[in-house]
Amino acid sequence: MQHSINFKQLINKLNPIVQAPMFGVTTPEMVAAANKANCLGSLALGDLNAEKSIEEILKTKKLTNDTFAVNIFVHQLPKITKELEEKYNLSKSFIEQLAQVNQLDVVLPKLEEIKVNSYQEQVDAIIDEDCKILSFTFGNLDEVSIQKLKSNGTILIGTCTSLEEALTLEKAGIDCICVQGWEAGGHRGSFVSENIPEIGGLSLLAKISEQVNIPIIYAGGIYNAKTFVAVQKLGASAVQVGSLLLNSKESGLHDFERERLKQVNEDEIILTKSFSGRYARGIKNIFTSTIDNSDYILPYPYQNKLTAALRKIAKQNKNADFTNIWVGQSISHFSEKSTTDILLQFVEDIKLMKL
Ligand SMILES: Cc1cc2nc3c(=O)[nH]c(=O)nc-3n(C[C@H](O)[C@H](O)[C@H](O)COP(=O)(O)O)c2cc1C
Repeated sequence: MQHSINFKQLINKLNPIVQAPMFGVTTPEMVAAANKANCLGSLALGDLNAEKSIEEILKTKKLTNDTFAVNIFVHQLPKITKELEEKYNLSKSFIEQLAQVNQLDVVLPKLEEIKVNSYQEQVDAIIDEDCKILSFTFGNLDEVSIQKLKSNGTILIGTCTSLEEALTLEKAGIDCICVQGWEAGGHRGSFVSENIPEIGGLSLLAKISEQVNIPIIYAGGIYNAKTFVAVQKLGASAVQVGSLLLNSKESGLHDFERERLKQVNEDEIILTKSFSGRYARGIKNIFTSTIDNSDYILPYPYQNKLTAALRKIAKQNKNADFTNIWVGQSISHFSEKSTTDILLQFVEDIKLMKL
């Protein structure tokens, strides 16, 4: 049973570090390990259906008695038009051929075989499971969902990448915002305009903290005590760290992905729409270079669903050239220690810096 709380009370009780939700990488074990370091663990549910979301929540509840956040993709489903259908078929054959030339035999799904879920079914699952903190990205929740969640006493954390998005979330009654700097690994949370805002973390955080009155969690490029102190001075109540935990014991990354990560150079970390149809920061490879320079990118979630089988087979083949490995711009030494140890060390370093 998770109890009702407000964000300020929660952050005062915890170390001001949030383990970033990382769909595909975060495991229930990682969430529990973050909680063990007295930080806020976040369970990434992405765009899973209600049933799978509940499964993940139950697994996590078995491993920790402390409150954790759940995280979802608040995405709108584009209408299936004749044009989308045609583009889908062209993208499907292009990607299948590209895979074959690169020794990956894969048949991608037809458009009518694809199942997409609305985030509202996850909202209902989250309420049924009485989760008390929900963070979200890719958009703002609709009014009905906000009301339902608030009646359940759920703290809402929305992601923004511009001042306009921050103000939109605040106006809608969201309790706290996660300000995502340009440096951050993974998908951009942008939602206000088609052209994503390209604002560096420091500029964004300074501007938003001057104009917004709800608590701020800052995400993007935080990997040590110095970077923590810098953004705390700029108005962040807490930080959210993702890349720092990618190689941790509890990370869901495969060994070949961990090896690739450890060798990454700064000029290989790019933004790409190739895997999912939304911009995400990760490691450049044959797939990103080919598809980003092509006409074969469908809107999210269709590109994501189209490429899922290819990503799966690439993982089985340990082929980092066709796997999406998300990482932010701050390359650290990617510790193999447990999430608990990495976060406790981080907390200790912050204390030492403040002495
Ligand atoms: C592998 C990976 C997956 C991610 N998946 C999600 C996700 O499911 N939901 C979300 O809100 N943010 C996601 N993010 C973004 C993180 O929550 C956070 O904004 C980012 O990691 C912070 O930047 P950093 O990587 O420099 O620490 C992901 C990031 C990474 C690296």
